[in-house]
Amino acid sequence: MLSAAKLLLASTSLVTAAVIDIRQEPSTTVPDYFQTTPQIFAGPTVTGLIAPFLAQSNPAPFGQEASFVANAPLETNLPITGNTNRSSIFQLHGQLSSYFPNPVGFGSNEYPLPPGSNISHVHLLHRHGSRYPTGDSSVANFGRKIQNLTTNGSAKWTDELDFLNAWEYQLGAEILVARGRQELFDSGVLFYYNYGGLYNTSTKITARTTTQDRMLKSAEYFMAGFFGLEWTHNVTLALILEQQGFNNSLAGYFQCNNSNSYQATGGNNASRIWEKTYLAAATERLTAMSGGYNWTVADVYNAQTMCPYETVAFGYSRWCDLFTYDEWKGFEYSIDLQFHGNNGFGSPTGRAVGIGYVEELFARLEGHLYNLPPGATQANVTLDEMEATFPLDQSLNFDFSHDTNIMAIITAFGLKQFNQTLPTTGPPDDQQLIVSHVTPFATRMVWEIIQAPSPIKASRPTNVTAPTSDYYDQGNTTTYIHLLLNQRTVPLYKSYPECEKRDDGWCELSTVLKIFGGLLDTARYEYSCFGDYPSVPYGNVTDGVPTVKRRALGGAFGTGLEMYESSDRWIE
Ligand SMILES: *[C@@H]1O[C@H](CO)[C@@H](O)[C@H](O)[C@H]1NC(C)=O
Ligand SMILES: *[C@@H]1O[C@H](CO)[C@@H](O)[C@H](O)[C@H]1NC(C)=O
Ligand SMILES: *[C@@H]1O[C@H](CO)[C@@H](O)[C@H](O)[C@H]1NC(C)=O
Ligand SMILES: *[C@@H]1O[C@H](CO)[C@@H](O)[C@H](O)[C@H]1NC(C)=O
Ligand SMILES: *[C@@H]1O[C@H](CO)[C@@H](O)[C@H](O)[C@H]1NC(C)=O
Ligand SMILES: *[C@@H]1O[C@H](CO)[C@@H](O)[C@H](O)[C@H]1NC(C)=O
Ligand SMILES: *[C@@H]1O[C@H](CO)[C@@H](O)[C@H](O)[C@H]1NC(C)=O
Ligand SMILES: *[C@@H]1O[C@H](CO)[C@@H](O)[C@H](O)[C@H]1NC(C)=O
Ligand SMILES: *[C@@H]1O[C@H](CO)[C@@H](O)[C@H](O)[C@H]1NC(C)=O
Ligand SMILES: *[C@@H]1O[C@H](CO)[C@@H](O)[C@H](O)[C@H]1NC(C)=O
Ligand SMILES: *[C@@H]1O[C@H](CO)[C@@H](O)[C@H](O)[C@H]1NC(C)=O
Ligand SMILES: *[C@@H]1O[C@H](CO)[C@@H](O)[C@H](O)[C@H]1NC(C)=O
Repeated sequence: MLSAAKLLLASTSLVTAAVIDIRQEPSTTVPDYFQTTPQIFAGPTVTGLIAPFLAQSNPAPFGQEASFVANAPLETNLPITGNTNRSSIFQLHGQLSSYFPNPVGFGSNEYPLPPGSNISHVHLLHRHGSRYPTGDSSVANFGRKIQNLTTNGSAKWTDELDFLNAWEYQLGAEILVARGRQELFDSGVLFYYNYGGLYNTSTKITARTTTQDRMLKSAEYFMAGFFGLEWTHNVTLALILEQQGFNNSLAGYFQCNNSNSYQATGGNNASRIWEKTYLAAATERLTAMSGGYNWTVADVYNAQTMCPYETVAFGYSRWCDLFTYDEWKGFEYSIDLQFHGNNGFGSPTGRAVGIGYVEELFARLEGHLYNLPPGATQANVTLDEMEATFPLDQSLNFDFSHDTNIMAIITAFGLKQFNQTLPTTGPPDDQQLIVSHVTPFATRMVWEIIQAPSPIKASRPTNVTAPTSDYYDQGNTTTYIHLLLNQRTVPLYKSYPECEKRDDGWCELSTVLKIFGGLLDTARYEYSCFGDYPSVPYGNVTDGVPTVKRRALGGAFGTGLEMYESSDRWIE
C-alpha cells in the first residue's frame, strides 16, 4: 500500500492522464485513479487455507447413483430434506447466491426491439463476483469458536455433525474466489453477445470501478470476457479510492456515517426476530447432536451462512444439507429483511447511500459532467469533473459496485416497486424484494436507451401468426429507457406513476429525466448521513429517508439501538 504522502503526490499529477495501452505499471506520470498495479487501498487480500479438491472430497452422488448430476463447477445437487421438486437451495442465499438470472421476472414480460428501433446507449452497474467473507465477520468468528469447542472438549459432535470433529475454518477473506472470476468473465461474454455492436473498435472507452481488490479484479475479468485478453487496448479502468474518508459513489457508505451506525440496523434487528422463529427447530436439532453444547440461534444462523461461503470457495460444503428446504427459504427471507431495513426503503440512509451514483447517471443521461457542489452527494467531484474519469458520449458505460450499495442505488432511484414493508413474522404474499433476484453475486443493473422512429404501442402485439405493427401510425421519433435487473425487465410504471403503463415496462426518457431531477432533494443526503436523529424501530422508515417525527430523546432508541456483532452484514 502506498503511504499517504506518496498517494498525495500521485493525486497532484491529475493533468498527466495519458492514453495507456497496457495494464498500468508503476510510473511517476500515472495518477492514482489510473493505477492498477501496485494496488492502492486494495483492502485485505487473504486467500483460503486450502485449495478445492472436489475430485477427492465431493460425496456426490450422495449414495443415489441414479440421480447423479455432475458439478458445474459447484456441487449443488444435494439431498435437502423437504425439497420435493429438486429446486436449488443455492438460489435461496440472498446476496450470497452465485449469479443466476432472475427466474420469475419483476412483473413484466420481455419484448424484442421492433424493427426500425435501435439501442444507442447502455449503462451497466455490476456487482463483484463470489468472494470470501470479511475477516472479522460473525461467520469467521463462529468458525473459530467451533474449532475451540472441539479442541477444548465442550462439545461432542455426533450424527450429522460428526464431520465437525475434523472440520476447520479455512476460508480466506474479502477477495474473489474462482467462482467469482468465472461469474465476471461469463458476464463479459454475455454482454459482448448482447451489446458488442455498440462498441466502436477504433475507440478506447473508460470504465469505472474502485481500488478494492475484488472490485478491480471483477472489472478486469469482465473486460477479459467482453474484449478478450487484450482488453487493455479497448478499455481504461478508472479506480475510485475505496477507503474511509474518501468520496466514492460506488461505495457510498464510506461517506455516510449514519449508514454505518445503529441508525441503519433496523434490518438486522428484524432479521434476528425472524431467525428465532424459523431456526427454532434447527437449534434444537443441532443441540441434540452436540453432546452438551447448547447452540444459540446466532450459532445456527452462522452455520447456515457457512454453506454459501464454503460452497463458492471449495465447491461443496458439509453445512448445506444440515438444513431443510424451508429453512433455506427462511434464510433468504432473513437477508431480504436485512437489505430492506439496512439498505433499502426501510433504512433512513437507504436513499442517501445510493444518491451519488444516481446523480452521476442523471448527468450522463443529460449529456454533461456531474456538476453538483462538493458535499451534495458522496460522488468524488475531482474525478467527476474530468471527462478522462467521468466519460460522456460513450455508448457502453460500465461501472462496478457492491451489493448493499446497489440496494441503496435502487432505493435512491425511487424504485418503489421494492418498498413493501416486510413483516418479521414471515414472507408476505406477492413479495417484491427478494435479494437473490436483486443483488446476487455478480448482479447487473442495466439501463438501455432505445430510439424509435415513432411511438411504440403500450400494448405490444404478440400474435405471431397475424403480426401487426408495434408502432402507432402517427407520432415523432421517441426515446425510451428500459431497466433490466439480472436479465429481466423492471417495469418502470410500477414505481413511477408518471410513466405510461406499458407491456414492455419501458418509459419515455424525457419523463424519467423529470423524475430523476427530483431525486436529490428526496434523498436528503446531508441530514440522512450526518444528521443527529434518533433510531426508530424497524418498520417505521418506509421511504429510505429518516422519519421527521419530533419526539423527546429519552428512551427514543427503541429496538434500533442494538448493534450487530460485526459489520459483515453491511458491506458485502
Ligand atoms: C418447488 O419449486 C418452486 C419453484 O419452482 C418453489 O417456489 C417451491 O418452493 C418448491 N417447493 C419445494 C417444496 O421444493
Ligand atoms: C478460542 O479460544 C481461544 C483460547 O482459549 C480464545 O482466545 C478465543 O477467544 C476463542 N475464540 C472464540 C471465537 O471463541
Ligand atoms: C471452549 O471454547 C468455547 C468457545 O471459544 C468457550 O466459550 C468455552 O469457554 C471454552 N471452554 C473451556 C472449558 O475452555
Ligand atoms: C468510430 O470512432 C472513430 C474514431 O473516433 C470515428 O472516426 C468513427 O466515425 C466512429 N465510427 C462510428 C460508426 O461511429
Ligand atoms: C480492441 O481494440 C483492438 C485495437 O484497437 C481492436 O483491434 C479490437 O477489435 C478491439 N476488440 C474488440 C472486441 O472489439
Ligand atoms: C477524489 O479522487 C482523487 C483522485 O483519486 C483523490 O485524490 C481525492 O482525495 C478524492 N477526493 C475525495 C474527497 O475523496
Ligand atoms: C443447556 O440447556 C439445558 C436445557 O436448557 C440446560 O439444562 C443445560 O445446563 C445447558 N447446558 C449448558 C452447558 O449451558
Ligand atoms: C436509431 O433510431 C433513430 C430513430 O429512428 C434514428 O434517428 C437513428 O438514426 C437510428 N440510429 C442508428 C445508428 O441506426
Ligand atoms: C392470431 O391471429 C389469427 C389470425 O387472425 C387468429 O386466428 C388467432 O386466433 C390469433 N391468436 C390469438 C392468440 O389471438
Ligand atoms: C411531432 O413534433 C412536432 C414538432 O415538434 C409537433 O408539432 C407535433 O405535434 C408532433 N406530433 C405528435 C403526434 O406528437
Ligand atoms: C414511527 O414513529 C413515530 C414516533 O414514535 C410514530 O409516531 C409513528 O406512528 C411511527 N410510524 C410507524 C409506521 O410505525
Ligand atoms: C410504496 O410506494 C407506493 C407508491 O408507489 C405507496 O403508495 C405505498 O404507500 C408505499 N409503501 C410503503 C410501505 O411505504
